[in-house]
Amino acid sequence: MGIVITITSGKGGVGKSTAVGNISVGLANRGKKVVAIDFDIGLRNLDMILGLENRIVYDVIDVMEEKCNLNQALINDKKSKNLYFLPASQSKDKNILNKDKVKILIEELKNNFDFILIDSPAGIESGFEHAIFWADKALIVVTPEVSSVRDADRVIGIIDAKSDKARDGKEVEKSLIINRIKQDLVKKGEMMSSDDVLNILGIPLIGLIPEDEKIISATNSGVPVIYNKNTKSAKSYQDICDRILGKEIPIEIPNDSILDSIKRLFK
Ligand SMILES: Nc1ncnc2c1ncn2[C@@H]1O[C@H](COP(=O)(O)OP(=O)(O)O)[C@@H](O)[C@H]1O
Ligand SMILES: [Mg+2]
Repeated sequence: MGIVITITSGKGGVGKSTAVGNISVGLANRGKKVVAIDFDIGLRNLDMILGLENRIVYDVIDVMEEKCNLNQALINDKKSKNLYFLPASQSKDKNILNKDKVKILIEELKNNFDFILIDSPAGIESGFEHAIFWADKALIVVTPEVSSVRDADRVIGIIDAKSDKARDGKEVEKSLIINRIKQDLVKKGEMMSSDDVLNILGIPLIGLIPEDEKIISATNSGVPVIYNKNTKSAKSYQDICDRILGKEIPIEIPNDSILDSIKRLFK
């Protein structure tokens, strides 16, 4: 049976879809059969990150409404043959997901894949509960800002209350990704440190990702940054994939290069 991992956050725009894209590629390239599902109805952008936007014919709602079967909607990635993608609907109706239909879909995927990665809407959006309900694990993405951390704290509470596992008295395994760290600002005391964030949220850390402008160019070119070995963020995503697979890799604080710090001075 496949493992369902939902990538979520309290606030929007913190790097969830970017994380789903990169972690999906990383797990697929480690030989796992992976499907990435975009549950962010109306706001889809995981297709852009994976560079698959031109290949979309059907989406997740078409599958649930039986306008097509699952195989017709799944898009096989060009570069990572173990990776499949199920796009979000562009529908304006964010309440279109139906709990029983989501369940049938997830169960079918669990029978066919090692990992089901769900790109969730932020915790305040509708659709969030569907994305979290069937999760075995949740990766909560925060940026080191007070508002992001506060909203993440609320989301952790909702996951604990509303998942299928919680109904059974079990717990969804939760881990934290801290994204967009600017280590030079942390050193100057101008940005929350990862310890500050961890002390507030109290869930285990699975990865630290530096601020990296290469992520933006990667999205524009549709080639996830994890393919670009020369970037500092690729290493962070690779380490997260290894940790998901149970490897014990020490968590490193991503360091800004001197060049980055100088560039920021002139911005
Ligand atoms: N570590 C990072 N460094 C620089 N830019 C980033 C980083 N992570 C995400 N971004 C950028 O932030 C924006 C929001 O990311 P996205 O993954 O779409 O967030 P979400 O899915 O949480 O709304 C995108 O433009 C993305 O390229
Ligand atoms: Mg997103």
